[in-house]
Amino acid sequence: MNLEDCLADFQIPRYLHYMDSAATSLVPEPVIAAMNEYDRQYRANVGRGMHRLTRIATQRYQDAHELVSGFIGGKEGTTVFTKNTTEAINMVAAGLDWQPGDRIVTTGVEHHSNLLPWLRLRQKGIEVVILQPDEAGIFAIEAFEEAITANAKLVAVSHVSNVLGTVQPVREIAEICKAQGAYFLVDAAQSVPHFSVDAWRTGCDFLCFSGHKMLGPTGTGVLWIRDAAISPLMLGGGTVEDVTTEGYTLTSGYQRFEGGTPNISGAIGLGQAVKYLESLGMDGISKHEQKLTERLLTGLADIENVTIHGPQNTKNRIGVVSFTIGRIHPHEIAYLLDERAAILVRSGDHCCIPLMKHLGLENGTVRASLYLYNTSEEVDLLLEAIEEIARIA
Ligand SMILES: Cc1ncc(COP(=O)(O)O)c(C=O)c1O
Repeated sequence: MNLEDCLADFQIPRYLHYMDSAATSLVPEPVIAAMNEYDRQYRANVGRGMHRLTRIATQRYQDAHELVSGFIGGKEGTTVFTKNTTEAINMVAAGLDWQPGDRIVTTGVEHHSNLLPWLRLRQKGIEVVILQPDEAGIFAIEAFEEAITANAKLVAVSHVSNVLGTVQPVREIAEICKAQGAYFLVDAAQSVPHFSVDAWRTGCDFLCFSGHKMLGPTGTGVLWIRDAAISPLMLGGGTVEDVTTEGYTLTSGYQRFEGGTPNISGAIGLGQAVKYLESLGMDGISKHEQKLTERLLTGLADIENVTIHGPQNTKNRIGVVSFTIGRIHPHEIAYLLDERAAILVRSGDHCCIPLMKHLGLENGTVRASLYLYNTSEEVDLLLEAIEEIARIA
């Protein structure tokens, strides 16, 4: 399937130009159909019982895990379904065996979901070191070398910034972590949807991402674990091998971490989303987005009063483009883009208040985030609308 052919699968009204995929993506028809098929034709609980519907549902639920772990090169680890990236990260924060004096290294570009769980651990005597980037969101690798000391237990970094679009050098960071014996968590919420990510080869111990940002349904996410021992956040149905009145033995595999009835239709939808992305090819998707991003960055650079926040070229960045126009409040710009051109973008702090403070952007930014279903024509429309607003700035 090629990218142009897939546009018909996204049934958002044609007059709307959706550029908020970093918040959540649109969902193609085959994903909706797969979820509906489960609810209509073989709805049953999974991993329980022997009747025919539960056997079909269990098989499809397991298939979804296989599809997702294959998609991220994670077959050799454990692929746990969660409700989103936030839950995946919190599962690691709650599941590791922390000791006072342990160090966590993270950065000032993180989404609150990859910051607050670590900040909370300060209450347990854990030291949290936060590295600050330059204006474009880039870190010197030496900063990681210095901060990842022998007492560092975990390093938590977003693969791609959801504000600046910057891609971080996760393989190099993984090498430093390995040398110091620190676990490495990659928040891949903005990378897995946009380019090919191989969890195993990345060298991380935990990879966290959201299904709803990659054509899947809301309420789906993933925690991939290489081999680290973490205790499950929730115990209950589905997580045990055996139980007596004295205690219990947990199962191995993803089931240990997925207590209770899971989001079955969501998981099946996510599996279908992965199939869909694979049928388009991640390299083709990434090239398409690079082309659109280049067009957008070049156009923005030519408009007076517009400031791009993040790298000005497409090297090591994705199509998450933050900008401001003079002193106009970002919410007003987003409102005007919608009212005048039906262009839907995000505005504000993007759940990254510390980064906004670091960059001196008290009202945040406007963020256009592109995906496989956006077109060059839509980028041109966005540029025209921005130019018009910039004239009044
Ligand atoms: C980099 C990053 N991390 C974490 C999250 C949190 O994702 P979710 O809301 O799906 O848990 C987001 C969402 O925008 C994100 O962009």
